[in-house]
Amino acid sequence: MIKKIGILTSGGDCPGMNYAVSTFIKVAIANNIKPYLIKDGYFGLTNGNIKEGTIEYADLIMNLGGTSIGSARFEEFMQEDVRKKAILQLKKYGIEALIVVGGDGSYKGALKLTRMGINCIGLPGTIDNDIASSDYTLGFNSTLNFIVDVIKSNRNTANSHNRCTIIETMGRNCGDLALFAAKASAVEVLSIPEHKLTELEIVSQVNKLKLKNRRSVIVLVTENIYDLKKLVDLITIKTGYITKSNVIGHMQRGIEPITFDKVLAYNLVNKAILELINNKGGECIGLINGKINVVAIEKALKLKNPDRSKEINEYKKIQESYLK
Ligand code: F6P
Repeated sequence: MIKKIGILTSGGDCPGMNYAVSTFIKVAIANNIKPYLIKDGYFGLTNGNIKEGTIEYADLIMNLGGTSIGSARFEEFMQEDVRKKAILQLKKYGIEALIVVGGDGSYKGALKLTRMGINCIGLPGTIDNDIASSDYTLGFNSTLNFIVDVIKSNRNTANSHNRCTIIETMGRNCGDLALFAAKASAVEVLSIPEHKLTELEIVSQVNKLKLKNRRSVIVLVTENIYDLKKLVDLITIKTGYITKSNVIGHMQRGIEPITFDKVLAYNLVNKAILELINNKGGECIGLINGKINVVAIEKALKLKNPDRSKEINEYKKIQESYLK
């Protein structure tokens, strides 16, 4: 019977990571397993920054945003000698298995460690929703709610002044945050990495709305696609709308988790501990069609994110309604 399990959070923090750690401590203790908290992801693991979790700590952090045990992006962990150091640290504490909350990169580390004899289970923790082995990643829905609130507030002021506002979400190479927020906010123009509009296409869409005397226009885009200053100037000059821009930035990431993400964290962690008790490793857990689902990490890393073309086309129809 397994006696000691560790947990680490890796990559960009996300709402719900703390709830996952808190649940981990409680479920482990309930199963007579000692819970260990590893500070700052694989970096802290390699350097032996490890302490035992307590119920008091679990209660303290459960509702907080971010990750109280810290996170890091630590590319060096792909090197075998670095992982060997990490394993020595685990052996020092007698930790037999690990739960890794993070993105695809963190899953790769978890798979490599499993192959070196430490059973690891990956849980999808990122606001980007870019882990194909789960319909929703931990934190995505909390961040989405926040973005929708930001859009509502921007709409009020844009309506007050007859303006156009560009809003930029995070998401890296995945447009889900912007796409889902568009569905919940009826924005007039949407551009995401998978279905990018050129600057001229955006200007042309905004221009058509101007000709229809639309009171306000929201242009919602994923990060890293445009030079926003340039786009603001272009829309202002070519359409006549006074245009403003808002980069939501890290404030969309550090928020407290909503209930959906807490329940997701709870279900993911419970399954992860069960898998480790049953001596399983090299797996990741996700939510597929409403059910908690286990997939081999090797297989999960080859899965493709859903094709959103149909959803984009469906959304375009709504955008066209403003021009009729
Ligand atoms: O992967 C999560 C994420 O928030 C992305 O959406 C974003 O591109 C990136 O992390 C930002 O990373 P950092 O906090 O290192 O600037």
